[in-house]
Amino acid sequence: MLSDSLTEFHVSPGGSLCGRIRVPGDKSISHRSIMLGSLADGVTRVSGFLQGEDSLATLGAFRAMGVEIEGPHDGRVVIHGVGRKGLKAPAQPLDLGNSGTSMRLLAGLLAGQGLDLVLTGDASLSGRPMRRVTAPLAQMGARVEATDAGTAPLHIRPVEALHGIDFALPVASAQVKSCVLLAGLYADGETCVTEPAPTRDHTERMLQGFGYEVRREGNRICLRGGGRLRACDIDVPADISSAAFFLVGASIAPGSDLLLEHVGMNPTRDGVINILRLMGADIEVSNERSMGGEPVADLRVRHAALHGIHIPEDQVPLAIDEFPALFVAAACAEGETVLTGAEELRVKESDRIQAMADGLQALGIDARPTPDGMIIQGGALHGGEVDSHGDHRIAMSFAMAALRADGGIRIRDCANVNTSFPDFGRLAGEAGLHIVTENG
Ligand code: S3P
Repeated sequence: MLSDSLTEFHVSPGGSLCGRIRVPGDKSISHRSIMLGSLADGVTRVSGFLQGEDSLATLGAFRAMGVEIEGPHDGRVVIHGVGRKGLKAPAQPLDLGNSGTSMRLLAGLLAGQGLDLVLTGDASLSGRPMRRVTAPLAQMGARVEATDAGTAPLHIRPVEALHGIDFALPVASAQVKSCVLLAGLYADGETCVTEPAPTRDHTERMLQGFGYEVRREGNRICLRGGGRLRACDIDVPADISSAAFFLVGASIAPGSDLLLEHVGMNPTRDGVINILRLMGADIEVSNERSMGGEPVADLRVRHAALHGIHIPEDQVPLAIDEFPALFVAAACAEGETVLTGAEELRVKESDRIQAMADGLQALGIDARPTPDGMIIQGGALHGGEVDSHGDHRIAMSFAMAALRADGGIRIRDCANVNTSFPDFGRLAGEAGLHIVTENG
C-alpha cells in the first residue's frame, strides 16, 4: 500500500535510555504457540502473545483453516485445538504477509494434511528462497510447489502419505529445521534433522511442552510421526530480538541506565548479549527463571565505551536477527568490527548487509559490505536520511543510531515495524529516544 511505504521515523539526535520497560512477546514463540495449540487436543491458553502483524498472520491462517481462536486481548489468546487432523482447507489462499516463519513452518505443518491450498506473501516474502523447504519436503513425499524461481506462492497439494527422512540442513536455519520436524509429525517412521550449528530450538522445546517426544543427540534432532499433542498453557517471554535495539541504544548513549524485564534468554538466542559484552558492553543479568520450558531474565544495561571486535562465527546463528542493531553498535565503537560467515543476512526481510552498509555510509560511517558480512570502522555518526527497505529491524536499528548522531535521522518505509514491534515508537519514546512517526 502506498501509505505504508510513506511511514517514516524522524528521530532527533541525542538523549539517553532510562527506566524500566517490557518489550513485546517473542515472535518465534508466538507463531509456534498458535501452530501447536491449533493441532493439539484441548484448549491452549497463551499469555504475552506478540500482537504484531507476523504472528497475527499465523493466527489468521489457522482461523481460516477452521480453528476457533479467542483474542488476542492484551496478549492473551485462547486456542480451541482441533487435533492433529482437524484442519480444514481455507476458502482462499493464506496470505502470510511479510512473515518467513509463517510460510516456512506452515509449508511443513500442512504438507501431510491431505489439503489443497496456497500460501502467499508480500513482495519481500515473495522474493525469499523457498527451495530450502520444498526440497526436503519433496524427499518426504510431499507436493509443495514453488515458482520456477523457487519462491512463493507455494501450492500445497494433497498426498497419500509422508515418510520420515534423515536430513542434514545445508544452512543453519531454524525455519527449515522446524519445517521438516513439523512435517515429520505426519510422516511414517522417524524424521531426523542434523544442524550444522545450533539454531533456535523453540519448536523442539514447545513440542515437548505439548507432551510430544523429541530426541536430541548432539546436533541431531529426531521425532516419530503419528503422536498427539496435549494442550497446555504458554507464557511468552519478551523478545530478545526486540530487546536488542534497546541493549544497543543504551550501550551507545551516554547516561543510559535501562532495565528490560522478562526477556527470553534461550541459549540459542543470546548471541547479541555475548557479542555486545565482547565489545565492552555493561549488561547485568538478574532474576533468572524458567517459564514454560524457556529461560527468562531481567537485563540491566548501562552506557559503556564499546570497542571493535572480530565477531566469533559461532555466535552468528545465535544472533542472526540482531546484526542490524549490532552494526549500529559497531559504528559507535572504537576501532574496527569485522563480521564474517553471515551470508544468510542477504536473504532476510531485506538484504541486511547491503541495506545497513548503505544507511551507515549515508550517516558518514566507513562500512564496507562483503559477500558474507561487513567491515565497519567506528566513527562519528552524522544526521541524514536512510531507507529501511521495508525491513522492521533496519528501521529500528537506525532509530537507535540517532542517540549518538550529531543531527536528526529520517528513516523511510517504516510501516513494517508493526510486523514485530507495533509499539516501538511509544516505548522507545518513553525510554528517552526523541522519535516521531509520520504517516505519509
Ligand atoms: C526464525 C528463524 C530465523 C530468524 C527468523 C525467525 C524462527 O530464520 O531469522 O526471524 O522463528 O524460526 P532462519 O531459519 O531463516 O535463520
